[in-house]
Amino acid sequence: MQIHLTAAPTSDVRVRARLVNQGAALSGIDSALVEGAAASRFTGRTGQVFEGFATVDGAVRRVVLVGAGEPDAADRRANLERAGAALTAKYLVSGETAMVVDLADAGLSADDAAAVLLGLRLRGWRHDKYRTKLASDKRPSLVNVHVTGMPEGTNAAWEREAAVAKGVEFTRGLVTEPANIIYPASFVAACEEAFAGTGAEITVLGEAEMEALGMGALVGVGRGSERESKLLAVRWNGGEAGERPTVFVGKGVTFDTGGISLKPGPGMEDMKWDMGGAGAVAGAMLSLVTRKAKANVIGVMGLVENMPDGKAQRPGDVITTMSGQTVEVLNTDAEGRLVLCDALHWAQEQYDAARIVDLATLTGAMIIALGNEHGGMFANDDTLAQQLTAAGKTSGDKLWRMPLGPNYDKLIDSPIADIKNVGPREAGSITAAQFLQRFIRNGTPWAHLDIAGMVWSNKPGHTWDKGATGYGVRLLDQFVRDVIEG
Ligand code: BES
Ligand code: MN
Ligand code: ZN
Repeated sequence: MQIHLTAAPTSDVRVRARLVNQGAALSGIDSALVEGAAASRFTGRTGQVFEGFATVDGAVRRVVLVGAGEPDAADRRANLERAGAALTAKYLVSGETAMVVDLADAGLSADDAAAVLLGLRLRGWRHDKYRTKLASDKRPSLVNVHVTGMPEGTNAAWEREAAVAKGVEFTRGLVTEPANIIYPASFVAACEEAFAGTGAEITVLGEAEMEALGMGALVGVGRGSERESKLLAVRWNGGEAGERPTVFVGKGVTFDTGGISLKPGPGMEDMKWDMGGAGAVAGAMLSLVTRKAKANVIGVMGLVENMPDGKAQRPGDVITTMSGQTVEVLNTDAEGRLVLCDALHWAQEQYDAARIVDLATLTGAMIIALGNEHGGMFANDDTLAQQLTAAGKTSGDKLWRMPLGPNYDKLIDSPIADIKNVGPREAGSITAAQFLQRFIRNGTPWAHLDIAGMVWSNKPGHTWDKGATGYGVRLLDQFVRDVIEG
C-alpha cells in the first residue's frame, strides 16, 4: 500500500473517504447520505465508518465517512490513528485498489494529519508471502491511498512518522518469520541489508569471539543448537560528538524450546517470537536511522537458539558469565536472562552508556500479571522510569512499573554459585529482573522491559492485524524524541 500526499487527487477513484469529527455537521455531500449517516447512527465516534453510494459529478462513488472522535480529546492522536486504521481495515481486501482520503474537515495540525497516515499504514501491514493459495477475494487489493486536504507541514511530519512505520514493519517481519528462516545468522543478515548505506555502524561477534570474551552464559544457551549464536550491535551517531550514547539491548532467542528443560508441545510454536525484544531494538534503530535522529544510540542484540541436544547445557550446570559472576543453571528454559546478562555486561564494557534499556520476552509470569495491555517495567532510576512511562503513553506502547528490592534479590542466591537462574514460582518476573540487575554497574540508569505479553496478538488491534504487533519500536522512538532530541 502506497500513501500519496496530493493537493488534487485524480477524479477516477471510487472510494472517497472524509474524516469527520464527532458531532460535526455534514456539509457538501448528498442529502441522502446525510440522512443515511444519521439513520445508521453515525456520529463521528472514533473509528466509526459509514459508507453510502452516491452519484458525484456523474459517476457512482463510495462515499465514506470516518469518525475522528472529539476534536479536543486528550487522546486525539491515538484516535486519529484509529480513524486512519479503520479505513485500511475496511478497504484493504475490499477489491478496491485506490482510495481518496480528505482530511480538510477535521481541523488537523500537521502532526495530527501524520497520525492518521500512520494508522492507515500500520493497519495495512500483512505477511502473505507463504500463502500460495490465498483466494483472490482475500488478497489485499488496496494499492494507492491519495491523501488530500492536509495542513501545511504534513509532508515533513509524515516523513518522520513514515520512518517509524518502516521500523515497526521491519520488526513485525522479523517476529513473524518462523525459526527456520530467522535464526541468529539470518537475523544479522536481515539487519545488514536493512542498514546498508544508512550510515549506521554494524558490529557482529560470532561464537568463538564471544567464547574468548568469556560469555559463558550467552554461549551456553546456544550450545544445543546447530545455529551459531551471534551478538549484533548497530550504532547510530546522530547526536553531538561528546554525547554519551543511549543503549538498547534486546533478547533475541530465535526459538525457545526450553532446552533440556523442554517446554510442553502445545503452543511451543509461539516461541518463534522469543526474539521480539531484539526485533524491537532492530526496528527502533531502523526508524531512528531512517529519520536521522539527532541522538547517539546503540542497539545490542543477543541472538541464540535454545535447543536440546547432546551438547546442550544441563540443569545444574554452573557457568561463568563475562562479568565473572557464576550462575547455577537450574532451568535451561530460563535462558533469556542468561543471554541478556552477557549482552548487558558487554554493552557496559564497550560503551560509556548514559542509560540502558533492555527489552525481552522474558517471563510467562509477566503475561499473567499484566495481560496484553502493558509491558512490565523494572528500573533502578525513577527519572528513567518516568520518561519511559511517558513515552509509552504518547506512543501507545504502554508500560507499567513493577518493583525491585533486596528481599526479591535474595531469592536467587545459589548454594553452589553466585546466582541461580530461577527463583521460586512466586514473583517470577521480578526475580528475572533481579537477575539482570546483578549485571548492571552501580550508577548506570537502567530499565528492563518484560514484553512477553506485547509482541504477539491473537486478535487484531487498532493499528495491527493479528500476529506481530511491532511493540517497542514506537516506544523507543518516542523515548529518543522526548529525552534526547528534546
Ligand atoms: N521465552 C520464555 C517466556 C515467555 C513465555 C515469553 C510465554 C512469551 C510467552 C522464557 O524464556 C521462559 O521460558 N521463561 C520461563 C521462566 C521459568 C523457567 C523461570 C517461564 O516464564 O516459564
Ligand atoms: Mn525459556
Ligand atoms: Zn525465552
